[in-house]
Amino acid sequence: MEDSHDHTGVLDAVMERVRSHIGEGRVADYIPELAGVDPDEFGFAMATVDGDLYSVGDHARTRFSMQSITKVFTLALVMHGHSGSDVWKRVHREPSGNAFNSLHQLEFENGVPRNPMINPGALIVTDQLLSDTGDSAGALQDLLCAETGDPGLHADNLVAESETRSGDRNRALAYLMASFGTIRNPVPEVLDHYFRQCSITISCEELARAGLFLARRGRRSDGSELLSPSDARRILAVMLTCGTYDAAGEFAYRVGLPCKSGVGGGILAVVPGVCTVAAWGPGLDEKGNSVTAALALEAFTDVTGCSVF
Ligand code: DON
Repeated sequence: MEDSHDHTGVLDAVMERVRSHIGEGRVADYIPELAGVDPDEFGFAMATVDGDLYSVGDHARTRFSMQSITKVFTLALVMHGHSGSDVWKRVHREPSGNAFNSLHQLEFENGVPRNPMINPGALIVTDQLLSDTGDSAGALQDLLCAETGDPGLHADNLVAESETRSGDRNRALAYLMASFGTIRNPVPEVLDHYFRQCSITISCEELARAGLFLARRGRRSDGSELLSPSDARRILAVMLTCGTYDAAGEFAYRVGLPCKSGVGGGILAVVPGVCTVAAWGPGLDEKGNSVTAALALEAFTDVTGCSVF
């Protein structure tokens, strides 16, 4: 990771590891609009804190559905606001060991989700951001546009509508929490913002740039502070322990970096103080993590030795 020659070697190694696996896994189809994505696409990008951007794969600039990767950014916005500490009264910081949309744990834990990286936790964060800003989805979009430098980044309305139509499980999670009093705004409004947030599309190159504030210990691209260094470190801890759902232990073992995945097939990883890495391949494993993005990240840490361990 010292000069451009090394970066080329890293990107080549990533492509080498992934190439024969492209197309593996199953594209998410519980959101019907996502089912039509070509499973053979793959992209990978790395953005350094010094401002360099490197990418490989035919689709490093193709936009894909961010889905749960948005959960990191909405959490950052809530922690930036005055409500940062308040939100932790309504959501814990423990790995769930369960599927990201599981209901039963939420019921016997009295409507307090295990962490903000799974759906119920993200619904709490969205509820809080809605209270803080009056427009949770708008606040997220503004942050992403500013950090990627592309004012045109936006939600995909077809995906948002598709999720709204097929979102009974998220509705169940939200109403269950409302019954415990842990959701404060009207449930349909919270869900509307949540679905629009998940449907934002972004490319690997853009995602790597958007997440750089986490590698820069909380500093945004314009140098202003989104998070204190301590809060940036805390979000990375939550990503490492909870960001890939019930595969977080496996990711810590294989990749060794704070990661956040989404069912659109993207994964964002952070090397604190150094760079971010974004990988995308639409085919998912049984836990909902991209097969090729996980392989790419594993190759990245193997070759560079960049890991938090
Ligand atoms: O709510 C859902 O099920 C999707 N919009 C996002 C799921 C996802 O990416 C993984 N979940 N944490």
